[in-house]
Amino acid sequence: MSVNTDTTHSSTGAAALAAFRRRLPGIIYGGDYNPEQWDRRTWAEDIELMRQARVRLVSVGVFSWAALEPRDGEYDFDWLDEIMDLLGDADIAVNLATPNAATPPWLAETHPETLLVDRAGTRVGIGSRGHFCPSAPIYLDRSRRMARMLAERYGTHPALAMWHIGNEYHAHCFCDLCDAAFRRWLQARYASLDSLNDAWGTLFWSQRYSEWDQVHLPKPVRGNINPARELDFSRFVSDVQSDLIRAERRLLQDITPGVPTTTNLLQNYPLGDYRAWADAWDVVAFDSYPDPSDPQWPAAAALQYDLMRSLGAGAPWMLMEQAASGVAQWRVNVAKSPGQMRLGSLQAVAHAADAVMFFQWRASKAGHEKFHSAMLPHGGTETRTWREVRALGEELERLDPIAGATVPADVALIWDWENWWAVEGIAHPRNDMDYRALLRAFQAPLWERNIALDVVGWNDDLSGYRAIIAPNQYLLSEDRRAALDAFVRGGGHVLIGSFSGIVNENDQVNLPGYAPGLRPLIGAHILDMAARPDHERISVRMPGGEVLGDEGDFVHRWQDELVVADAEILLEYADGDFAGEPAVIAHRVGDGRVVYFGTDPSSSLRERLLEDFVRAADARAPHPAPPGVEVVERRSATESFLFFLNHSPHPRDIRLSDGGIEMLSARDVAPGETLMLDSQGAAVVRRALSRTERQLA
Ligand code: GAL
Repeated sequence: MSVNTDTTHSSTGAAALAAFRRRLPGIIYGGDYNPEQWDRRTWAEDIELMRQARVRLVSVGVFSWAALEPRDGEYDFDWLDEIMDLLGDADIAVNLATPNAATPPWLAETHPETLLVDRAGTRVGIGSRGHFCPSAPIYLDRSRRMARMLAERYGTHPALAMWHIGNEYHAHCFCDLCDAAFRRWLQARYASLDSLNDAWGTLFWSQRYSEWDQVHLPKPVRGNINPARELDFSRFVSDVQSDLIRAERRLLQDITPGVPTTTNLLQNYPLGDYRAWADAWDVVAFDSYPDPSDPQWPAAAALQYDLMRSLGAGAPWMLMEQAASGVAQWRVNVAKSPGQMRLGSLQAVAHAADAVMFFQWRASKAGHEKFHSAMLPHGGTETRTWREVRALGEELERLDPIAGATVPADVALIWDWENWWAVEGIAHPRNDMDYRALLRAFQAPLWERNIALDVVGWNDDLSGYRAIIAPNQYLLSEDRRAALDAFVRGGGHVLIGSFSGIVNENDQVNLPGYAPGLRPLIGAHILDMAARPDHERISVRMPGGEVLGDEGDFVHRWQDELVVADAEILLEYADGDFAGEPAVIAHRVGDGRVVYFGTDPSSSLRERLLEDFVRAADARAPHPAPPGVEVVERRSATESFLFFLNHSPHPRDIRLSDGGIEMLSARDVAPGETLMLDSQGAAVVRRALSRTERQLA
């Protein structure tokens, strides 16, 4: 695993992470461990069973604040001392948490301002977690005091391997302290009230502010709220949280510079621009909970994993939490079927996870998550889950040589948080935009074709990709436009979906309308745009050709009025209000090429267009495979590790192009040999890279 660069603490973090990897090489196995919920006898059993399962790292203390500090300034570290010793003696490393995500009752009682206020103005009560106000000075003081005490007490403990900062940051609060913090944040962003007024377009509906004191968090309003204000609120919430992580990281690093830090990220979390947070940790860690009953779960998981890898610029990341079977928080918490947990875990490793960990080690007997699955279920070692957990521990050891290798990708999918906030704003021609669903809709067909994807932002280094896909880029600020322009002029291929280029960073229309920044790139002018009724299906054809015959191939929901300058028309409307007008266009810019969808293709048509697009960009799957088999390649400087994961309900055969060693069965395989994979089966073929491959890398 490697670190992100641009941070003052990056070199300390990089060295600490390198030391951590020397101590725990290979693929790390483990989970959250909450010993405070159990007696000493159970601890002894836990440690014995952890050894049997080959657990090497446990996250301890994530929600232990009340157990460590039962009263303000009164501590009980004895139990933690003891368990740290026991784990250390058993050679199980500890990822020790700063327990700031669940504040203890005494803090709420004596300092109610530490409890967050929701948007409706209600101050929440205790009894759950994540209920803290991120601006309350007492919360910050007490949580940092605890972090400091942990660092001072355990900094040199042999079991300590890593810091787990908080848990799944997702705090936002509408109290007066946060209100003042929002104003300060805005003052830093805009300097003058005039600039804020201009950015927010406050002459509309008489909102112009004459004093800073009039500017507040977006509490509920009677109708629609100012979209630019809401956009800045999202930016503010994101910044507040990353500042909290950074502050704890600095504090921990000052005391324990040799210990790397991480925090566990959520899937699909809207209010955290994880890319902007990416200098707040030494290694990316992720909590993955795809719905096992969703037939599309592997594609959904792959998108998240590719995002996590890309947040660390390609570096291996840690799967910090997953469920051994069902979770506890949904309407129906479907159990994983036999083999599903193994396949999902191998999938994470395929996408560059160098750690496979679970929430949690032992199933709780009390509390909100007592029916959440665990590595060690209530039924103990007799259960299928336990057998699968043990078997996986053994199998992962065989994959140890893969650690450190990354996933080469020629194609990048843009996942842009600011755009997410803006495009899902209000009072648009269509107000049913679901940015995540759109990303999924573009990613899934590529995943099915085993085209490796990085999931990046416009500020990332895009120069190494052959192609970039932006399913939507409603918010096209000048820096984004410049990045896009440079990529295309550098010879890259770009695919952009409709309703793109429309507004700037303040959600104000880029004029003259529409999308002036895209004009030279798409070779056309978007003169107007029209939302279409949901039930309407519009036929398309190649210019002058037959209507696309396949029933599933149509467009719907959206039509641009495109005035083509020098673009090539790939498809035109065959009926409806815009019959004969261009629908999908392509434009050459130097060696680059831009494909623009002026409409919303049906899923089968989108798939075909995507296929054509990646073919034109010459992006290929690492190995041919039958439907339902995911193929992902990890590469080190000298070796290739080719994962074949059979997600289909049927056995599948794969004829290998190259020979090598199948790592899970430790068996030699020859070029041309057929690998047989059961449903949910997997294989990992290791081979040395040829000299040419090494040179190209
Ligand atoms: C995570 C959380 C864990 C546990 C888990 C259950 O979001 O970090 O503490 O609650 O969900 O799936």
